[in-house]
Amino acid sequence: MTCIYISRDSGALCVGAEATAKKFREEAEARGLDVEIIRTGARGMYWLEPLIEIETPQGRVGYGPAKASDVPDLIDAGILEAKPHDKCIGVVDDYPWLKNQTRLTFARCGIVDPRSLADYQAHKGYEGLKKAIQVGPKATVEEVITSGLRGRGGAGFPTGIKWRTVAETPPQQKYIVCNADEGDSGTFADRMIMEGDPFVLIEGMTIAGLAVGATYGYIYLRSEYPHAFETLNIAIAEARKAGFLGDNVAGSGLAYDMEVRLGAGAYVCGEETSLLDSLEGKRGEVRAKPPLPAHVGLFGQPSVINNVLSLATVPIIMSDGGEYYRDFGMGKSRGTMPIQLAGNIKHGGLYETAFGISLGELVDEVGGGTYSGRPVRAVQVGGPLGAYFPREKFDTPFDYEAFTAAGGLIGHGGVVVFDDTVDMALQARFAMEFCAIESCGKCTPCRIGSARGMELMDKIMAGEERESNLAVLEDLCDTMKWGSLCALGGFAPYPVMSALHHFPEDFGAAKKRLQAAE
Ligand SMILES: Cc1cc2nc3c(=O)[nH]c(=O)nc-3n(C[C@H](O)[C@H](O)[C@H](O)COP(=O)(O)O)c2cc1C
Ligand code: SF4
Repeated sequence: MTCIYISRDSGALCVGAEATAKKFREEAEARGLDVEIIRTGARGMYWLEPLIEIETPQGRVGYGPAKASDVPDLIDAGILEAKPHDKCIGVVDDYPWLKNQTRLTFARCGIVDPRSLADYQAHKGYEGLKKAIQVGPKATVEEVITSGLRGRGGAGFPTGIKWRTVAETPPQQKYIVCNADEGDSGTFADRMIMEGDPFVLIEGMTIAGLAVGATYGYIYLRSEYPHAFETLNIAIAEARKAGFLGDNVAGSGLAYDMEVRLGAGAYVCGEETSLLDSLEGKRGEVRAKPPLPAHVGLFGQPSVINNVLSLATVPIIMSDGGEYYRDFGMGKSRGTMPIQLAGNIKHGGLYETAFGISLGELVDEVGGGTYSGRPVRAVQVGGPLGAYFPREKFDTPFDYEAFTAAGGLIGHGGVVVFDDTVDMALQARFAMEFCAIESCGKCTPCRIGSARGMELMDKIMAGEERESNLAVLEDLCDTMKWGSLCALGGFAPYPVMSALHHFPEDFGAAKKRLQAAE
């Protein structure tokens, strides 16, 4: 029997992976072929989806993109014997785009059946938890500190230090909260891992629970992720059935269980305190800090709140050691970052690599430039509140501190590419509009400032008292940056000011620039 692997991740489904799998099944039945079709997560090479992988003695050989209508021809050409075809990319693991990566967090994604606990365990699954139980809570927290892992949700706060704060609160009901709201534009890494390797997140949360003394966990999942919701629930039920969740986790004598809760679709509910309000059934509104959620979190109890990727990275840190993980990276940015390449880019997808790769390498070499074939003009890194980088800044290494020094942020690792037809004044207006729509309304600089920012941008784009309105815009951005309660209002000035700083010709002189380009 030949094993065939086809992704059922959302990114593959939306380009027809379900129809491809169905057609393969029908053709195999009609031709009496002995095949088993296994549905995996995605490898992250979305321009090749739907990707069909065939098990061979040399490894899995890939064919893509393979639409349902391509299936009969592929079978005729001898796909089951891994024969050549113009859609063949060779052994998938040797495909340079994949081979050049350092996949630690995403090691299993695209390889295992995400609904099979047995498959997870056959690929080193639950080795991290075993180690955590063996060394105990204190040493587990120390291992995470040693790894240098920083929160992948945006703020980059050291994960182990956060855990230690919760662990040191007196014994009481504590919670693990996984932030799976993934609202940043151009980001999909959380979704990919939840759909492609859900057990790694469950294992990471379980390790966190045992380490800090929390007996219950919640995944706060954005409602736009129905496939992740289904996959996570199946995986949680499997883990519970096998004793990896419940009153006696993996025979440790310790209790930990968890569930998934759906959000209602507000960007601000990704902000950790707003998320807590939403999880408690209230309207998502940012809480003033202190108290920190580590002291007074969910339902007023000490809580660890971490992003999906932070938690999903913990199992490999525990199984292979904090020292091993921290050996990758540069400066204070240790380990690897799952970078998401999106927007107008030829090779869009998930690229996990050690910190230190330059923005230019990512966009030009890994991403292959724009999808449109036109020159790259700007790249926004770190979501809708991230700065725009011009080509002159492409030597910036992917590193928290280097990005801050360059006037930007890494955020959740989303890289969105724009070609030379982009109007940066419109992008700046969009940042203000986004902030106005998504503002929770609690503080004035953000609630009122974003609305005034939109009005100012309209005037600037109309050429109305341009110089004085630009001065007011700068002043407004300064007020929002320093006066907002949370990073939604506080960071909205980044895209606005970076656009203005690097592309001044678009602010009131957009027509001139486009005419010059033509
Ligand atoms: C407006 C706003 C939206 C946010 N959205 C997310 C999100 O979707 N996912 C996420 O993990 N963190 C998000 N964050 C960051 C969280 O507040 C918090 O820093 C993070 O969940 C902590 O986990 P980490 O330390 O593992 O990164 C957001 C922050 C702000 C201000
Ligand atoms: S900055 Fe905006 S989103 Fe944040 S608390 Fe203030 S009003 Fe709410």
